[in-house]
Amino acid sequence: MSILNDIERVLVSETEIEAICQRLGKQITEDYADKERPILLGLLKGCVPFMADLSKHIQLPIEVEYMDVSSYHGNITSSGDVKIRKDMNTSVMGRDILIAEDIVDTGKTLDTIVKLLTHRGARSVEVVTLLDKPAGRVIPFTPKYVGTVIPKEFVVGYGLDYNELYRNIPFVGVLKPEIYKK
Ligand code: XMP
Ligand code: MG
Repeated sequence: MSILNDIERVLVSETEIEAICQRLGKQITEDYADKERPILLGLLKGCVPFMADLSKHIQLPIEVEYMDVSSYHGNITSSGDVKIRKDMNTSVMGRDILIAEDIVDTGKTLDTIVKLLTHRGARSVEVVTLLDKPAGRVIPFTPKYVGTVIPKEFVVGYGLDYNELYRNIPFVGVLKPEIYKK
């Protein structure tokens, strides 16, 4: 049985994703050209496909780090309490940090992590996200680099999961409602 049967429709296609990665990579390359070893910090697990594709288009010497933070507990609404399951492996003191995220929804995850890294002494902290769902905001948060804005729908694929499934779909799609109403 194909996992594609659970997808109602494609929201962001593979072709669109590739164009987004090219555009954002070029912009980031320009903006970070005079920074010293900026850190691209991915938030696991959702960032993985996006960060891999985006980073190919960042033509600068960057370091790559990961944090595993979680605000979702197998549900489709964000609980808002952000837990750090795995921290990054290097000090952020005086460093320029670019956080790579799959989606900004309520804004709570990024708001928490940006404040934390700033508190730890980062020189700058910005966010690049594949998807922005502004209708989901609970607190104000504006990511600097946005791939595309999506409506208030639950999406999966290209890193985004429902109950840990669908991350390996190569595009972003809307799940059939019967899947999460089961
Ligand atoms: P907040 O609400 O803190 O959420 O901005 C960020 C995290 O919530 C998850 N999220 C989603 N995951 N489909 C998903 O698979 C969605 O539509 C969705 N909306 C939010 C995601 O893990 C993100 O990092
Ligand atoms: Mg995530």
